[in-house]
Amino acid sequence: MRRQRTVKVAIAGVGNCASALVQGVEYYRDRQGDLEGLMRQSIGGYRCGDIEFVAAFDVDRRKVGRPLEEAIFAKPNCTRIFQSALPVSNVIVQMGPVLDGVASHMADYPDEAAFRPVDLEPTDVTAALRASGAEVLLSYLPVGSEEAVKHYARACLDARVAMINCVPVFIASDPYWADEFRAAGVPIIGDDIKSQLGATIIHCALVRLCSDRGIGIDRTYQLNTGGNTDFLNMLERSRVMSKKISKTQSVQSQLNHPLDSRNIHVGPSDYVPWQRDNKVCFIRIEGHGFGGGPIELEMRLSVEDSSNSAGVVIDAIRCVKLALERGEAGPLLGPSAYYMKAPPRQLRDSIALEACNAFVDGRDYQMPDVADQKSGLKRPNLSSDI
Ligand SMILES: NC(=O)c1ccc[n+]([C@@H]2O[C@H](COP(=O)([O-])OP(=O)(O)OC[C@H]3O[C@@H](n4cnc5c(N)ncnc54)[C@H](O)[C@@H]3O)[C@@H](O)[C@H]2O)c1
Repeated sequence: MRRQRTVKVAIAGVGNCASALVQGVEYYRDRQGDLEGLMRQSIGGYRCGDIEFVAAFDVDRRKVGRPLEEAIFAKPNCTRIFQSALPVSNVIVQMGPVLDGVASHMADYPDEAAFRPVDLEPTDVTAALRASGAEVLLSYLPVGSEEAVKHYARACLDARVAMINCVPVFIASDPYWADEFRAAGVPIIGDDIKSQLGATIIHCALVRLCSDRGIGIDRTYQLNTGGNTDFLNMLERSRVMSKKISKTQSVQSQLNHPLDSRNIHVGPSDYVPWQRDNKVCFIRIEGHGFGGGPIELEMRLSVEDSSNSAGVVIDAIRCVKLALERGEAGPLLGPSAYYMKAPPRQLRDSIALEACNAFVDGRDYQMPDVADQKSGLKRPNLSSDI
């Protein structure tokens, strides 16, 4: 049988991440040679240009009803435009169910900075997915959209469409949902996308380096600021709980001994409107080395937030395609551990890369026992921490 050379993708949430992704697929489409900015040029023979967008859902009045290639540039999106010329997709953004997708404080901010839901009947997402021929749905909803993400997850199950959950709502890492995806016969990668070179991956690398070099870590924090709608949304503290759990779990998983929750503070910290899609992260580690000698480390990272995760999603999409071709269902453990902050099996990054490579190559891989990793892989109790 001839292999289908495209991966048909649907998007839920046409925000800044979707914009960077749609632009990126076109940007890399015909480029040859050393493709800087990509983690992998090809996965299972699939290149970036093999990704085809076939459906999109949003709730904002400036996006619903518009072609995808226009909606990605509509306000309040503010990510950098690096590929303005886009082909006609014939994908019209459809009205999704709003549910808990839009935080009420959005109404207190200007149009250009905040979501403006339109008053329309939502589309039947399952029917729309079926009609589009989508093979995988990307969940790009705002943090805290528990009900909305689950609505799209259910639609994926009913339409037999795979899912990549970029949001810190626990689906792939929740045993109930993991079983549902297994039973439906479709794969899922999740939860909460890791950026290519973002705050989490650098924080993880630094604490791992300290642990490998015998440095005792006493305390650490990661403070993040940004000016996009992701950061505006996260001003509502009740929505951020899952994000803090996901990010903290990622850092804790790299330590020999997890820190007491009072000594680790990781999470989005403030909304600074003029930063727009520029995210700035401050990391501090306090520890002690040989003979108890004190060590302090401070680091500042400045990145374009949304394109930083799009490069990772491009790889996750191609892994899902391989799983579909191989008939694999349920959470993809290796890719989830490498690409996501809150995967079903949290692994040290070097091990996650091995597991992900084995998946891509189609090799069997024995997942290490939790004890082998000597790390705290449980969800930390953050109740005192937010
Ligand atoms: N580097 C990164 O940017 C990064 C990294 C990790 C995780 N994430 C997560 O990815 C998600 C998307 O990030 P973003 O920067 O694109 O956010 P965004 O705020 O730019 O976009 C969210 C989009 O979802 C739409 N929306 C709201 N409710 C909806 C619903 N019920 N149905 C359909 N659409 C709905 C909004 O109108 C908006 O277009 C966030 O949860 C974010 O935390 C991003």
